[in-house]
Parts: sequence; C-alpha cells; structure tokens
Amino acid sequence: MKHQTVQVFLLAILVSCGTHQEKNGMNSTIKLHFNEAEQKIQKDIYGHFAEHLGRCVYDGIWVGPDSDIPNYRGYRLDVLNALKELNIPVLRWPGGCFADTYHWKDGVGPRSERPKLINVFWGHVLEDNSFGTHEFLDLCEILGADAYIAANVGSGTVREMIEWIEYMTSDQNIPMANWRRKNGREKPWNVKFIGIGNESWGCGGNMTPQYYADLLRQYATFAKEYMKEGTIRVGCGSYGDYVEWTDVVMEKAAAHMEALSYHYYTIATDDWSAKSSATEFDEDLYSSGLYQALKMDVLLHEHIAVMDKHDPEGKVALYVDEWGIWTESEPETNPKFLHQQNSMRDALIASLTFDIFHRHAKRVQMANIAQMVNVLQAMILTKGNQMVLTPTYHVFAMYKENQDAIHIPLTITAPYYTFEDRSIPAISATASIKNGKVFIGMSNLHASEIITVDVDISTGALTTAAKATIITAPAFNSYNTFEAPDVVSPTDFLNYTFTSGTLRIELPPFSIVSLELE
Ligand code: AHR
Repeated sequence: MKHQTVQVFLLAILVSCGTHQEKNGMNSTIKLHFNEAEQKIQKDIYGHFAEHLGRCVYDGIWVGPDSDIPNYRGYRLDVLNALKELNIPVLRWPGGCFADTYHWKDGVGPRSERPKLINVFWGHVLEDNSFGTHEFLDLCEILGADAYIAANVGSGTVREMIEWIEYMTSDQNIPMANWRRKNGREKPWNVKFIGIGNESWGCGGNMTPQYYADLLRQYATFAKEYMKEGTIRVGCGSYGDYVEWTDVVMEKAAAHMEALSYHYYTIATDDWSAKSSATEFDEDLYSSGLYQALKMDVLLHEHIAVMDKHDPEGKVALYVDEWGIWTESEPETNPKFLHQQNSMRDALIASLTFDIFHRHAKRVQMANIAQMVNVLQAMILTKGNQMVLTPTYHVFAMYKENQDAIHIPLTITAPYYTFEDRSIPAISATASIKNGKVFIGMSNLHASEIITVDVDISTGALTTAAKATIITAPAFNSYNTFEAPDVVSPTDFLNYTFTSGTLRIELPPFSIVSLELE
C-alpha cells in the first residue's frame, strides 16, 4: 500500500538476459534447449491469495450454510467447483494488510458469539469473523491446497502467534489443542507456511528494515520451535525496486527463514493516484499495461542478485506472494473493495508473468495472484447467485500443466511491438516437460499483427500435439460478463503445422496459445 515508481531500462535487460533477440518482420523463432532442462517449476508458483477485503471472502467464497445460494458447508458451490479445476497448490490468508489487524481468537467458536471488528484498511466495514481459522483450513483441505497463514506482527504478539500455531497444529493435551477439539476439530490441520507479517514497511507497521529484521528473528525463533519440522517461515520482503529492504533483511535474518516474500503490482499508468479503468482503455494503456507487467523480470533480477550476495547457496526461496494488475475499482462499487473487471489484457499479463516466474524458477518458488475472487486480478467474479470466470482464470487453467514440470530454457527471436515511444518484445513464451509431454505456451502481445512463430523442436523428437488451445478475444479490452460469460474463453487451436523438426504457428494479435506435444 506504499509503492515507489520503478525506473528501469526494460528492453536492455530483456535483451541481455539472452531470452529475446530482436528480429525484423512479423516472424518469430523459438528454440527449445532440451539439454539444459533441469530446473523444476514449483507448483506453488500457481498459488492464490484470499484476503478479508471487499467481497473476496464474503460473497466470493463464503456465504454461510444458511444462504439461499447453493453452498457446501457455507462455501459457495459454483466457486468451489471452479476453483477445484485449477489444482490450487497453496492459499495465503487472511491478508494482506488485514493480517496485521487480525486476532485469530475472535474467529473461532460458535459463529453467533464471535466478536466483530472494523476492517480499518478496507473501507471500515464491519467484519463479523464468521470466516475464521476452521473455515479457512477446511477450505484448504477441500481444495487440496497447502495453507499459508500470515501471522499478525504489526498489532499482535509472539504469544498470540504461538497459541495460533498450537491451536491449528498440536495433537497434545494442551489448552489450545483442546479448545480446537471443543470447537469441533479433533485432528490438527497441516499448516505448511507461516508468514511473519505482511508489508511491514507499510500497512504492517511502517517499520525500517533494521527493526523488522530483529522482529523477524524473534518471531521466527518461536515459530520454529512450535511448528512441525519442515514448516516454512516466510519473512516479509520488499516491493517494487526497494532493494535496500531485501538487502538488510537478508543480511540480518537470512538464517531465520526459509523464504522471503516480494510484492509487485502492475499499474498501467505507472501512477498509483490515477490507475485507469479495467476495461475502458486504449492502445496506449494496453501497451503500457504489458510494459509495466514485464518489469517483473527486471525487478526479480535485482532482488535475486541481492539474495545471491547473502545466500549464494539459495537456501532462502523468493515468494512473490502478491502480484497482478491493479486498476481503478469498478464504477458504483466501494472503491476500498478493489473490485475490478478483467480483460484480455489481464490474461496476457498473467501468461507473460508466468513465463517470467518460470525463467526465475530456481529462486522464485511460490507466487500468489492477488486475489482469488472479486478483488483485483481475480479468477472469478460473483453477483448474488451468479458467477463468471475471468480471462485470467482461463490462463491459470491453461498453464496448470507447468506445475512441478521441468522448465525448458528458450531462445526467442521476435519483432518488437512498438506503440509511440514504448517497445516490448511482441512474443513471450515458456516451455516445460512433465511425464514425457512438452508444454509450450506462447503469447502474442502485439495489438494488431499476426505473428508466425517457428518453433525448432528438432532435438525433442516431437511429432504431434495432443492438445492445442487458444485464448483470444474480439478486442484487447474484451471481458466476460454475467450476461456474456464466454467472450474471452479457451477454444481448440488449429492454426499450426509440423514440418521436419519445425512447428509453425500463426498467432493472432493479443492471443495466448498452448500446445502439449508428444
Ligand atoms: O492485495 C491488496 C493489498 O495490497 C494487500 O492487502 C497489501 O498487502 C497490498 O498492499
């Protein structure tokens, strides 16, 4: 919630990292380096984030067992079924900024007796705590996702965190575990990740990195003693180009965490005070949205270089536990609810960001889209008993084949897509291999040109596509509505040919194509 402007020389770095080379004309080539394929793409890169913010949890996920909206134990059924399709590996909760105001004891026990609180960061609305620890951890079990709890460091205590850990994970005869049993849950849950605060440089307490590093050492010491072996402690990391935070926290506390977080939001205008509409935008904002999203690559290079300095063995992973495009809220909604539509541009932002994460898969081992339902770059939007899947949802579904696959490095030659004085490579792509199948994902970022891509697959002995899918739309700002839910949705892709070692693909403007090759 406190963000700096990022000044970077994007193209220079994209060219220097060897994945892109300039090419004239509207043709592109992709070479797959099968012999260099060794890095696993951790499934957790496809993680999610659900905060008590606007209509993400309430209305979006949870309607309560007495609702008229069809539900399973209080979770809306339509949303639950759609989320199950994504193979969600990990879910982060309860915030966000909310996490540092959250006192977990208010969210357990009979729902009618739970105290209420004011959600100070998100519109000062009344939070009735009807969705708490049991509701969250049961949801994770239903989805088959690992739980990632963000502990309250900003306004909480070490004791509060310890008792939460005991409540969730202890099988002993101790007061916290017995309280959980009394509240209806005999067995402890598995909690794999514990975050030590959120945005502690901003809404989590406006701390200096030095002060936070000391707090991290303190909280992490006790988290380690009380949690099961193998639990991952996530230190609160930086945002944007605030490299000093990463530097200080790594220097002082690298030995006390298994992962460090990082946040980066795409602002198409590069101006937090005037973010622009999610759907009413021209080519200038289309291209600048993609340009701003591509900065993730440069920023990860910068932060990873600092981590490498303090931790050359790579013991501390980097978790991008908040990312996505942030636009103005939809008109006539509470601006603090961060409810935004989702367009074809956002689908491209998702695909190119996954391509970036895959390239950094050695250090980037988790990422959590902000957020799951009804908030920011959501998978799903709801209204009453209606639900619509967003273009971003379809990218998550298309790209899920990459979860736990081995990344295949690529060399891409591509033309630039230039709008006025802004240029970006027109093609973004990724490849991976799992169970003998090769997945290739390609995005044409150009607003008006078809690009022919020749993929050199000569060393891979690949001859057929078991599956070929495209996501495109009538316009780059097209989106799905409750009335027209399939304007931007995947369909079978037919425009490809195999000729002796080359796969030729015709990519329409603003499109994402994936192929599963055998
Ligand atoms: O995702 C919305 C907010 O963005 C989160 O609460 C906070 O961590 C970030 O500033």
